[in-house]
Amino acid sequence: MSVKLITRYVKDFVGEHELAAIEPQVQAAHKLLMDRNGPGNDFLGWVDLPENYDKEEFARIKAAAARIQADCDVLVVIGIGGSYLGARAALELLKTPYYNNLPKKTPDIYFAGNSISPDSLNTILKLCEGKRVCVNVISKSGTTTEPALAFRVFRELLEERYGKDGAKSRIYATTDKARGTLKELSDREGYETFVIADDVGGRYSVLTAVGLLPMAVAGIDIDAVMKGAAEARKALAVEKLCDNDCLKYAALRNILYRKGKQIELLVSYEPAFTMMNEWFKQLYGESEGKDNKGLFPASVVCSTDLHSMGQYIQEGRRCLFETVVSFQKAGEDFFVKDDPENLDGLNFLSNQNMSIVNKKAMEGTILAHTEGGVPNLVLEVPEINEHEFGWLVYFFEKACAISGYLLAVNPFNQPGVESYKKNMFALLGKPGYEDRKAELEAKLS
Ligand code: PA5
Repeated sequence: MSVKLITRYVKDFVGEHELAAIEPQVQAAHKLLMDRNGPGNDFLGWVDLPENYDKEEFARIKAAAARIQADCDVLVVIGIGGSYLGARAALELLKTPYYNNLPKKTPDIYFAGNSISPDSLNTILKLCEGKRVCVNVISKSGTTTEPALAFRVFRELLEERYGKDGAKSRIYATTDKARGTLKELSDREGYETFVIADDVGGRYSVLTAVGLLPMAVAGIDIDAVMKGAAEARKALAVEKLCDNDCLKYAALRNILYRKGKQIELLVSYEPAFTMMNEWFKQLYGESEGKDNKGLFPASVVCSTDLHSMGQYIQEGRRCLFETVVSFQKAGEDFFVKDDPENLDGLNFLSNQNMSIVNKKAMEGTILAHTEGGVPNLVLEVPEINEHEFGWLVYFFEKACAISGYLLAVNPFNQPGVESYKKNMFALLGKPGYEDRKAELEAKLS
């Protein structure tokens, strides 16, 4: 077993009888998922993906990554939402958020097309000056405005620098197998393409080429990632709640929701987990937040945020619970030396590993928060590596799907995301949105 759910700190808030009472509902939700009978059942490709992935494409991903490593100093990964967050989360967690600043044999990786900020785009363009550049453009629909806009800019840059043919060998597109503007463009220009299968939704796509190609370019062992996910798939298929931490986690967060908790804070004591928090927030926010239901997924990174959000968590409105992701072993520890003068008064920490100090901060915080009325679930993860990343991804994906079914929502669609797009298109004068434009402009004036 890899990821382990510790329920000790939720015992004062949820009784054993409540878990027993919800078990039949959780099992029904699990069955709905595994029998493929629930809402959104045409988006369940991620369930068996860790075993049933396209091995030929997987080999092509590795070959493309090796070519990108040889051909460029900078890889620009263009994508948004599910076509962005997983790759960045993996990079920061498994390599460090300072990946680009450290000496290494692999290319720098910048993420573009995840906003419409000209400043952000200009910064990345500046970072590409004088560098050999490759691009991985990722869009399942192939029509999303943010990445399409960024890709227009980078395509032009590459064509200017390397000519049409040169650009062609530096652009890699990850998109639908047949549909969308990006697929059409890629076929016309002859870019190498990777497929996001029809039955894998954006936020469940990190274990496809969407996440795997950027990971492989950074030197992340994608075989180990898939192995971790495959082991999770097997271990988390068990039906009984007491033997399946994924089901138990879904059950507990649903019980807490029914008891009035509105916000789940994902907590980590590793700054490298910051983008994993963002990935988690998209996964749970887009999956559960519909029909006026769902926990609001939020996050903090401790101890950093204990100096900003700690006061609220300890004494603010009691609408939260926390899920703490606790890594049991530090990647590279730091030894605190003794200082004979002890002018800073820190000798009580002398001869101590910093990971122990971090752990004690975590334990102290969990106890303080639970005493303050905030239930804490803890997910113990042995260490930060590819295997555990794959396991954690699968754990969260499956728990999310079951949570959605427990709420009686479709965890695989995102109809609400369209609303802002329609308004943005209307206000920008996209053909076909004329009536809406007039309506919105009247409201704005
Ligand atoms: O989860 C989702 O489906 C969305 O967040 C998408 O990933 C996001 O909108 C980007 O879409 P696309 O990959 O089609 O450009």
